[in-house]
Parts: sequence; structure tokens; C-alpha cells
Amino acid sequence: MSEMLFFPVIETERLTLKPLVSADSASLLEIFSDPEVMKYWNTPPWSGIQDAYRFVDNSNDAMQRQESLVLGVYVKSTAELVGKCMLFSYDKESKRAEIGFGLSRACWGKGYITEAGEALIQYGFNSLGLRRIEAEIDPDNQSSAKALEKLGFYQEGLLRQRWEINGIVSDSALYGRLASDPSPQHIKAMHTSNACAM
Ligand SMILES: CC(C)(COP(=O)(O)OP(=O)(O)OC[C@H]1O[C@@H](n2cnc3c(N)ncnc32)[C@H](O)[C@@H]1OP(=O)(O)O)[C@@H](O)C(=O)NCCC(=O)NCCS
Repeated sequence: MSEMLFFPVIETERLTLKPLVSADSASLLEIFSDPEVMKYWNTPPWSGIQDAYRFVDNSNDAMQRQESLVLGVYVKSTAELVGKCMLFSYDKESKRAEIGFGLSRACWGKGYITEAGEALIQYGFNSLGLRRIEAEIDPDNQSSAKALEKLGFYQEGLLRQRWEINGIVSDSALYGRLASDPSPQHIKAMHTSNACAM
């Protein structure tokens, strides 16, 4: 599989998804140090710029190894970085990966994840050859559950008391979407391009 497949630039109507660079670190820190954004994550809010540098480095290393795809979400009209979306836990043989996303709180509710998520999913199915994309979320994470359902995912299971973080026990809801599932009707066909970013 071409190495460049893991360094795409994906265009949607309002957004560009592309690999993160070190210069994004200050923006990333601002977004992921927000406790509201990190509320349902299994790691604490970022506390310093080193967290952001490490994230960018680790992401690019994992993409070089073709283990995951971690893309910044940039608003085309302002070039502002507003979040990240990723395909990770990639299992080449089983043609499966997990999806995750996080956006700056100021950008919630604008339909950005519906737009970015569908473009990433189509890239996963059509370019990486995935058959299945899955997601694991805290069942209390209403916005994420809604976003996944809007993206055509089905809830497939509930794993009880799966996590304990700082003494708080929580369940996991599992979601899946197959390449053979019908695309959600309300999502407009989005143009994607696969230009090399590195
Ligand atoms: C989850 C998240 C990425 C959703 O992104 P978003 O761009 O706000 O989502 P969209 O605007 O595309 O909305 C998708 C749907 O979810 C709904 N939604 C968004 N936020 C919601 C909320 N807080 N409560 C209920 N529904 C919500 C929207 O109304 C929309 O449905 P609709 O079109 O029928 O109204 C964003 O809230 C976020 O970054 N949260 C923190 C990080 C996180 O928890 N990530 C998930 C872990 S993988």
C-alpha cells in the first residue's frame, strides 16, 4: 500500500483535512486543554505545549508506520485549525479501523463533524479499502452519539463498566458502519482529493 495514502489532503465544501504539523501545536493545545472537549476522553486535558508537540510527532510516526490516519480539521475560509479527526486501530487484514474526532468548543453544532466525518469515512472505504469503521464512546456523550448516528453508524453493543478513570466507572457504547451500509441520505456527496501533504 502506498505510503502516501496515509498522508492525504481531503477537501470538503467548508473544510480541509490534512496531516498536522508542529506549527499547529499552539492551536491544538488551546482546543485539547479545554476540559469540556476532553470530558469523555480516557486521557486528561492537555496541560502544556509539550503535549501538543508529542501528539503531532506520534501521529506522524503512526502514519509513517501505516497504523493510523490523524488529520487536522481546518476551516477553508480562515485556514484556522478547529480540531482533529482520525482513523486508528487499523487492522489491515480485517479491513477495519476505529474513528475518533474532537473539535474546538466554539465550533460545535455547525455540522463540521458531519462534513469532515463523512469525507474521512469515504476515504477509509474507498482509498484504504476498509470494510468496517467502528467507534467506542461513553453512552453519556450525547453529541458524539448523535454525530455518529447522523454519519450512518449503528449502535451494536454496550460494554458495561468497561473503564475506570480517576475512580469513575463508565460503560462503552460500540458503534459500527460497514462499507456496504447505505450512505446517509442527508449527507451531500463530497468531493475528496488525495494530494500528498508531505
Ligand atoms: C462530538 C463532536 C465532534 C460533534 O461535532 P459537531 O461538529 O458539533 O457535530 P455536528 O455539528 O456535525 O452535529 C452532528 C449532530 O449532533 C448533534 N449535536 C451536536 N452537539 C450536540 C449536543 N451537545 N447534544 C445533542 N446533540 C448534539 C447536532 O445537532 C447534529 O444533529 P442534527 O443535525 O440532527 O441537529 C463535538 O461535540 C466534540 O468535539 N466533542 C468533544 C470531543 C468528543 O467527545 N469526541 C468524541 C469522542 S470520539
